[in-house]
Amino acid sequence: MLLLAHISDLHLDGTQRATERALRVMDHLRNLPRPVDAVVVTGDIADHGEISEYEEAARILAAPFPVLLAPGNHDARGPLRKGLLGLPEDGSPVNSVHRVGGAAVLMCDSSIPGRDEGLLDPDTVAWIDRTLSELHDVPAFLAFHHPPVRMHHPLPDSIGLQRQQDLADLLDAHPHVVAVLTGHSHTAAASTFARRPLLVAPAITWTLRLPWEGEGLADLDAPPALAYHVLDDDGSLITHFRVVR
Ligand SMILES: [Fe+2]
Ligand SMILES: [Fe+2]
Repeated sequence: MLLLAHISDLHLDGTQRATERALRVMDHLRNLPRPVDAVVVTGDIADHGEISEYEEAARILAAPFPVLLAPGNHDARGPLRKGLLGLPEDGSPVNSVHRVGGAAVLMCDSSIPGRDEGLLDPDTVAWIDRTLSELHDVPAFLAFHHPPVRMHHPLPDSIGLQRQQDLADLLDAHPHVVAVLTGHSHTAAASTFARRPLLVAPAITWTLRLPWEGEGLADLDAPPALAYHVLDDDGSLITHFRVVR
């Protein structure tokens, strides 16, 4: 059995509010009686893409289990690499693959520098294709920021993933992908895409108020939340969503 925690949209900006909410979630994860096998972080780690925000993220996300990262539209590739990953500052897509238990987790960069909508650029699509081919015999998760489905809210639907057919083609070619994990929409949500589960993590910072829930974009009072994805040895997948008080 593989146990992944999935968090997203910390929007660390140096404020006490953002710091406290992220620390609350990481403390919760660090104190679980059964440690998770890894934490997947699907972007908007920093609010303004500043080095100082990533240095704080490095302190908050330090943990005795792997913490896997992908950038969002509020992130900046160079500062993220330098401040959080300790790598040279360069602007190429931040893609990485991780073996976790018997599975693979591909952390993919769907950000477009300077823009809010998302795209798996041609280099990233080629890297995903190559990596999934090499790992064809293990179950794989694809994780990135922008969900490839309509959320039925005008804000995320105006800044969603472009060129979704590229992702559908990847999934058609690689049936061992068990799920697609995203963030960005600030709402815990589940759908399907190309016959695969599409699981959207809730945000740590604030929760999206849906059009039928009343006025105002952001529910600032909703507690931070996370998802647990459990992949059983028989290949079955279940997701639980949790708030962290
Ligand atoms: Fe966000
Ligand atoms: Fe976002």
